[in-house]
Amino acid sequence: MLFFLLILSSTIILIQIAPAEQAQSTTIFTTNELPSTGSSLDYRILPYIGNGHLATVAFSEFIYMNGLYNGDNGTSHRARIPSTLNWQFKINLSSSAYTLNVSSGKILFLSVFTETIENDEIRIERHLFASQEYTELLIAYVVITRLKSTGKKIVVPIEVNEQRTSIDIDFKVETYHDEYVLLSGETRQVENVQFQKEPLSVFVYHTPLPVNGLKLGKHEKRRTYLFVTSIDEQKSRAKSSFDYATHKRQADKILLSHVSRWNDIWSDGHVEVSGDDELQRQINSAFYYILSSLPPLSTRSEHKQFYGLSPGSLSRGGFLGEDYGGHSFWDTETWMFPSVLLFYPTLAKEILSYRIALRDSAVDNALLFGYEGWRFPWESARTGVDVTPDCCPEVRLYQMHITGDIAFAARQYVAATGNRDWISNELGGDLIYESARFWGSRAVYNNNKKQYEILTVLPPDEDAQPFKNNSVFTNAVAALSIQLADSVSCITNKKTPQSWIDIASNLHFPFDNSTQTHLEYEGFDLKNTTIKQADVVLLGFPLMWPMSDQVRRNDLLAYEPLTRDDGPAMTWSMHSIGFIELGDFNKAEQLFQRSYETYVKPPFNVWTEARSGVGAVNFITGAGGFLQAVLYGYGGIRLKLDQLEFKPRGHLPNQATKFVIRGIKYQGTIIDLTIDNKMYEIFVRAQSSKNDVPLIYKQGEHRGSLKLMDRLSFPIDTQLIIRRLVPLCP
Ligand SMILES: *[C@@H]1O[C@H](CO)[C@@H](O)[C@H](O)[C@H]1NC(C)=O
Ligand SMILES: *[C@@H]1O[C@H](CO)[C@@H](O)[C@H](O)[C@H]1NC(C)=O
Ligand SMILES: *[C@@H]1O[C@H](CO)[C@@H](O)[C@H](O)[C@H]1NC(C)=O
Ligand SMILES: *[C@@H]1O[C@H](CO)[C@@H](O)[C@H](O)[C@H]1NC(C)=O
Ligand SMILES: *[C@@H]1O[C@H](CO)[C@@H](O)[C@H](O)[C@H]1NC(C)=O
Ligand SMILES: *[C@@H]1O[C@H](CO)[C@@H](O)[C@H](O)[C@H]1NC(C)=O
Repeated sequence: MLFFLLILSSTIILIQIAPAEQAQSTTIFTTNELPSTGSSLDYRILPYIGNGHLATVAFSEFIYMNGLYNGDNGTSHRARIPSTLNWQFKINLSSSAYTLNVSSGKILFLSVFTETIENDEIRIERHLFASQEYTELLIAYVVITRLKSTGKKIVVPIEVNEQRTSIDIDFKVETYHDEYVLLSGETRQVENVQFQKEPLSVFVYHTPLPVNGLKLGKHEKRRTYLFVTSIDEQKSRAKSSFDYATHKRQADKILLSHVSRWNDIWSDGHVEVSGDDELQRQINSAFYYILSSLPPLSTRSEHKQFYGLSPGSLSRGGFLGEDYGGHSFWDTETWMFPSVLLFYPTLAKEILSYRIALRDSAVDNALLFGYEGWRFPWESARTGVDVTPDCCPEVRLYQMHITGDIAFAARQYVAATGNRDWISNELGGDLIYESARFWGSRAVYNNNKKQYEILTVLPPDEDAQPFKNNSVFTNAVAALSIQLADSVSCITNKKTPQSWIDIASNLHFPFDNSTQTHLEYEGFDLKNTTIKQADVVLLGFPLMWPMSDQVRRNDLLAYEPLTRDDGPAMTWSMHSIGFIELGDFNKAEQLFQRSYETYVKPPFNVWTEARSGVGAVNFITGAGGFLQAVLYGYGGIRLKLDQLEFKPRGHLPNQATKFVIRGIKYQGTIIDLTIDNKMYEIFVRAQSSKNDVPLIYKQGEHRGSLKLMDRLSFPIDTQLIIRRLVPLCP
């Protein structure tokens, strides 16, 4: 907006000139001034760059690495690596712009943070990115352009923070010369002596920082600089990626290769919204922030063990008590995993591989409490021992639904991919069986009720301190976990004991008969209790627990007013999905808006945990919930163990007139789903060349086999079912 003040005699007229209808890009997040609090940058709402191995918030002090934690079981948090990217230009600016460019147009998914500054003489562009080509690399690519031909040599002074020590890592400078600096260090404290024999090593190779400034010769028009940082646990890997970037590659090629790999991720799966650019921006940024904490789909780096998605992303968690120390919780499997799974099943498998890799701790964690099977820790970092800080032992002791949440994610992975090999040869079957075994050992029979019970647990609603009996959500995930082990027993060749099956089919579900409402736990007072977050409503979705529409509605209406307003972001997405199921679209839309609007902070759309802006930031848990409302809510997609269902309802949110959900992966087939207010269409974009998993579809009277390039369209509100011709376990 431009304001002109016209002073005419004694009257002041304010004329407001509306800017020309300027289409706001849906992929570029930009500002002329970085957000600040007083004199310093507001790091809480700055964006981050990351590639699942490394991540850093733009211009912040630290870089974080996947799996690199320091501290014992009560203090473990991400280890801080001093940043090599946070130096600043010292020039007087006439203009500045800061841009997070997640894509160009509809195709490129770029993920570069760019600073552009100018004075009378020069323009400086600095691009920061975490390479997808070699994940060890963080790159600052700087271009200086002369704007006036003055014939003068130009030196741009730089303010560099050459801090090399860290509270978490004892760094030594091994080499310092013109070509590179090598730092090596070790974390100071192991998480647990049984599961981590040695401190963790870190090697940092980087281009010497530009302490003497950047230069442009007398007659030079333009100069580019490449500042390479390469970090890994293995020295040889850090070195070879550094050498590649500095010797083998031209600077612009490094950027191009990164861009083209992001391009592949974007074209592999994304959502297109017509009629509502603002919603499109929200979806793009939510995916950007989740994907930046996951490994690339394709990279030239060696495969590395993935160490989990934390609520504050990979770019945060270096301070205990802030951003959850970078730990993994149920947020990973319940909130982020479902949106990743539909488009990127290989990344979903990476997420599950983290839990499998730390199985020895899960065995120990079950035994510690006298149970069998695998019991996953409430908070997990490097070793899988529970790293919940000493503040809150209740969550560590009693919040055990996480084991069921992980098993449910495994169920959804099997449902989406039918990956027998994962079950048989990659320990997926063990994850499934051993989680079920935990519940088998955890439930007890109550002779009065003639039912099984799971006592002394803390439900997802953490206000139910310190523990309760028979959390409905916990009992549901426990039953589903046992059912899953049974459903895939033809592949695991492990017979599910009858006693477990009895448990799964006869667990006590607290229910209020007079109001026909599920009770969060036994003794729950529906009239006078506040709850922290979505709990009972999760039975309907994601769990798809069978119940009548009336009970589903009763649950949604009962728990909405009980939920604290200052609870975490993700709750309302699940209420929105519930009302879409029930066809109450106005209510669904209000709750959908509530699920993101006040939690996402401009200009870079960074999520905060609470609407007031407090709590963890870059809260990708909230982003995950929001994306589930888009895909499973408005998309009307349901992934069941034996079939994929579509039932979009039209009534798209806000101003949207059309959604295209491109790249849904199901059993080797890739489907694009288009939805408008009347019809929906599926298009079979690709099918595994072997076509070893023939699929059939069914919609009302229509049925047939699903073939490459098929384009089927149906009225909204009708249900389409797609399933394998031959079931996974006949
Ligand atoms: C943390 O480690 C200490 C020392 O090894 C041990 O006594 C304690 O039981 C551990 N706590 C947990 C939750 O593992
Ligand atoms: C920037 O401007 C200030 C005052 O306008 C001046 O004192 C200073 O020397 C300038 N700095 C540079 C690097 O030009
Ligand atoms: C964003 O990236 C694309 C692709 O490189 C480029 O064409 C476009 O100019 C960039 N936009 C901004 C504002 O940097
Ligand atoms: C949980 O159940 C046990 C065993 O029936 C009982 O002793 C205990 O009082 C119950 N606790 C709560 C909080 O209801
Ligand atoms: C629940 O309520 C119905 C009618 O409102 C009644 O017939 C039934 O006996 C009640 N069940 C229990 C377990 O109280
Ligand atoms: C709710 O419970 C609290 C504490 O138990 C009590 O002080 C309050 O009066 C109750 N409110 C209602 C509406 O029952």
